Amino acid sequence: MNKGNILIEHATIVTPLGHEARKGEAMADLHTIVDGCVAAIDGIITYTGPSRDCPAMPADTVRIDAKGNVLLPGFVDSHTHLIFGGFRPDEFEWRLKGDSYMSIMERGGGIQSTVNATRATSEDELVDRAQWFIDSMSRMGVTTVEAKSGYGLDTPTEEKMLKAIRRLADKPDQKLRIVSTFLGAHAVPREYAGRTDEYIDLMISEMLPRFKDFTDCCDIFCEKNVFEIEESRRLLKAAAEMGYRLKLHADEIVQLGGAELAAELHALSADHLLHVSDQGIRAMAQAGTVATLLPLTAFALREPYAPARKFIEAGAAVALATDLNPGSCFSGSIPLTIALACIYMNMSIEETITALTLNGAAALGLASSTGSIEPGKSADMVMLGCDNIHILPYYVGMNCVKTTISAGRIVAQNP
Ligand code: NIG
Ligand code: FE
Repeated sequence: MNKGNILIEHATIVTPLGHEARKGEAMADLHTIVDGCVAAIDGIITYTGPSRDCPAMPADTVRIDAKGNVLLPGFVDSHTHLIFGGFRPDEFEWRLKGDSYMSIMERGGGIQSTVNATRATSEDELVDRAQWFIDSMSRMGVTTVEAKSGYGLDTPTEEKMLKAIRRLADKPDQKLRIVSTFLGAHAVPREYAGRTDEYIDLMISEMLPRFKDFTDCCDIFCEKNVFEIEESRRLLKAAAEMGYRLKLHADEIVQLGGAELAAELHALSADHLLHVSDQGIRAMAQAGTVATLLPLTAFALREPYAPARKFIEAGAAVALATDLNPGSCFSGSIPLTIALACIYMNMSIEETITALTLNGAAALGLASSTGSIEPGKSADMVMLGCDNIHILPYYVGMNCVKTTISAGRIVAQNP
């Protein structure tokens, strides 16, 4: 990603501070600088403080007068499936009429239907389609996004997806940082029906070693009748031994103990958690595994929201992400994520901001380099078109981002 020099003056800077996830009640502690200045050289923040003490900058510095505007860290969307072929509006319609997500999957639709479409889509087309989502996310203030594979479920297509993600990440003019996650264990492919262990063997012996050099994390859909606890443990342990950071889709549809497994394996995060047990919450809080909650998915599936308050009261770190995917949640809306978190999950706007910035970065292992506005971190910031953070949930589903800044460059500007 290209990097730039930037000086932003007279902003209301609001940011969590630190180089690791903020847990429990510390999630609500935001640092505010009124009439603040941020300076960055070559994409890295060199100064934050009062505008009257702004440092001298090189001649090619871009300058922004942010009087009347809030400046937040760029948002981190730490859970998406933004690479895929085809669309599934038919399933959405069936769900509106009463079908469940799992019943559609069990009769060969769902993830398998996107697998068929993704296998038939070229790498170039996957890249172009994903760039559209990335551009739209950037306009909503996202400066780091995670992208998962998982619609190939065979070695060539999983590789095609991960290579497409790498190409997107390596574009010099890319608008945001992209973290890649191998999710070969998204479903048991049709060809391996009834032979889950053999599919896990294939991932361990062939896929994981082959993708390691260009992939950051390994994830699994740990769910009843998909990958059970023992199966998930086997795959994730092998991935950790090869150097992958771990993530889990856990306790999404039923309570299976995915949260406990994530804590046991010291995963970066366990995600979804709509049906997490109290024991799982305690285990994650103790292990420091981030609870990544995805309210748009609960909303779209008409499921109860994940127990954000229980996690926070137990001293856990909560992150929020969109889960953008063609099935359970075809939305990458940051504004709606914020509104749902505040309205239905009873998170304060301060906690929501930490969840979408520093804690999202921690869920990707990046809390030391992004997720807050402080010297030494990447200059990833979002400027709102208002002077008050409370506008964020009040604007239900509407975008109040004015300017997005990634590594010191202006990458999106809304009217
Ligand atoms: O995070 N639950 C598993 N995976 C996705 C949905 C994928 C799909 O339906 O295509 C999720 O909800
Ligand atoms: Fe997901």
